[in-house]
Amino acid sequence: MNPNPSFIRIVGLQRRYEMGGTIVRALDGVDIDIAERTFTVVMGPSGSGKSSLLYLLGGLDRPTAGEIYVNGERLDQMDENALARFRRKTMGFIFQSFNLISSMTALENVAFPMQFSGTPAARRNERAKELLAQVGLADRAQHKPSELSGGQQQRVAVARALVNDPALVFADEPTGNLDTQSGVTIMQMLADLHKSGRTVLVVTHDPRMVRFATNKIFLLDGKAVSEAEYQAVALEPLQANFGG
Ligand SMILES: Nc1ncnc2c1ncn2[C@@H]1O[C@H](COP(=O)(O)OP(=O)(O)OP(=O)(O)O)[C@@H](O)[C@H]1O
Ligand SMILES: [Mg+2]
Repeated sequence: MNPNPSFIRIVGLQRRYEMGGTIVRALDGVDIDIAERTFTVVMGPSGSGKSSLLYLLGGLDRPTAGEIYVNGERLDQMDENALARFRRKTMGFIFQSFNLISSMTALENVAFPMQFSGTPAARRNERAKELLAQVGLADRAQHKPSELSGGQQQRVAVARALVNDPALVFADEPTGNLDTQSGVTIMQMLADLHKSGRTVLVVTHDPRMVRFATNKIFLLDGKAVSEAEYQAVALEPLQANFGG
């Protein structure tokens, strides 16, 4: 089967926040198509709307206007229950700050998303163990997040994101809080996920991640721009300096 060329389709996407009378246009009319089984890197300066975009695609937030389709299903019109179900079935999300539950062990954290899928407890445990082993943490199953290094916590978060075998994996600066070696490990995991047929979308500033990308999205002030436009703006401060 050929990969779906519009596995993710965004039309006129807007996300505005109202803050004490002023309106922040986090996303200001974004149109994007992302093919299935691609590795997309989202780049942009701080505040350009990268996290906002990922949260909307991941069904963790609602747009102010516009349409979001994932695998032909329209996300922005789903009710909360349908969205939660779709999210669990289709998507895995890796956050910059790991977002593990501090009172739970690594194993419980990984097993957590399966609680809602009607999987029996014994099977959940088995599956969570499998995933922890895959990320090289079989011997840390009973550790709480505070008893794990940053790199290990992020690997637990990767295992948790994969526990329902999602077709689509989102990661928001997954290496931002990691040392170099742990960062490389996480990048390699994301690259492997892509190779195994998943569609991967990563927000990153990390040039080492960019070489895995099959396509890139550039955001400036809540708008998707071409690489040329992006480079021109990125160079502006430099030119200003040279201009004296
Ligand atoms: N909950 C919120 N309330 C108000 N404004 C918000 C909220 N979340 C984000 N914003 C604003 O929306 C814009 C886009 O934010 P977003 O988090 O998407 O940026 P980003 O590209 O991920 O930045 P960074 O690289 O710093 O993570 C910013 O100007 C931000 O201040
Ligand atoms: Mg962000």
